[in-house]
Amino acid sequence: LENGVARTPPMGWNSWNSFGCNINETLIRQSADAIVASGMRDAGYQYVVVDDCWFNPNRDAAGNLQGDPGRFPSGMKALGDYLHGKGLKFGLYQVPVDRTCAQYFGSYPGATGSQGHEAQDARQFAAWGVDFLKYDWCSPNGTIDQQVATFARMRDALAATGRPIVYSINPNSIHAKTGPQRNWGDVANMWRTTEDITNAWDTGQTNGYPMGIQNIINVTVPLAGYARPGAFNDPDMMEVGRGGMTDTEMRSHFAMWAVLAAPLIAGNDVRSQSAATLSILTNRNLIAINQDGLGLQGAQVSFDGTRRVLAKPLANGDVAVALFNQGSATTTISTTAAAVGKTGTSFTLLDAWTGATSTTGGTISASVPAHGTVVYRVSGGGTTTPPPATSGALVSAAS
Ligand code: DGJ
Repeated sequence: LENGVARTPPMGWNSWNSFGCNINETLIRQSADAIVASGMRDAGYQYVVVDDCWFNPNRDAAGNLQGDPGRFPSGMKALGDYLHGKGLKFGLYQVPVDRTCAQYFGSYPGATGSQGHEAQDARQFAAWGVDFLKYDWCSPNGTIDQQVATFARMRDALAATGRPIVYSINPNSIHAKTGPQRNWGDVANMWRTTEDITNAWDTGQTNGYPMGIQNIINVTVPLAGYARPGAFNDPDMMEVGRGGMTDTEMRSHFAMWAVLAAPLIAGNDVRSQSAATLSILTNRNLIAINQDGLGLQGAQVSFDGTRRVLAKPLANGDVAVALFNQGSATTTISTTAAAVGKTGTSFTLLDAWTGATSTTGGTISASVPAHGTVVYRVSGGGTTTPPPATSGALVSAAS
């Protein structure tokens, strides 16, 4: 979406994966403080997104949205001011239907959706200082045409406020009906590619609830052709630091999100994260690859059902190459400089995880542990020809 924001994938934190409905202003402020103190803000994590359950279930007498007075007693504007004072940006959640997903969680009512209130609610968000709206199709009903019209209404309402606001949509709950993914780049800055993520490597789903890391990657890789500055596939908020996976899997998760030009939205409890989690989330080489100005998503170079190679062309002529092992044993994964779009006879490989550099005449290869990912930044040689981005049919999961 050409609205001036999200020229590179948005980076930040979202309350949902760790806290669900159990949120309040103290938690959000503490999380913001931790994002600053840990160095995450300075590494690029900017948007602090308050997900579902921030609402007062009743609009005020003028029909305006209100924060839940028990959870957010200082009000939503005050929260935005707090975040801005920390050098962060303010994200908020809403739904385009009549009720938020919280209705399904029993204890929390939610009858405050923006349906029919788009202009008024967009103005309210702008007045609160909102910089990022997550707009979530919380309904099992609807057609793709209804989704396009509905999501476009809020796109236009946000534009009419004059405030730059990243527009993040989730059309996921009717994927099963809509078939292959639509390219939402005309409507939003980022759009979810699957049902909800969970902190597991593989849940055996091709597009169901919930999705493991590998399952989401399988669905998102073929959509590479859609990504560009202002418009990114969103494989969901990260599960790094949330348990349920080995360190190798956590690192693959982050490396693949980086190379897929995915929004890097942390979902862990940043107030109590381990040094290992923080070092994954703040890996400078991978963040630089993710935030590269070309805004391209790594495209598939080869995949034999186990060994997957992706290449992401970068603005300075380098190419980031991911060697991703989806199998259950250590294996050697190889490609060549020519296959990833480089010309020439001598190249430098920077290993994004170790920081080590090596030289090669063309072979790009590594021994990669089960579920591991080695990422090289390939420099040197001549002009880059990006490999064609794949699109269309979904790639099925490696067994
Ligand atoms: C469904 C979304 O996919 C989640 O990320 C989260 O926003 C919940 N809804 C909140 O109800």
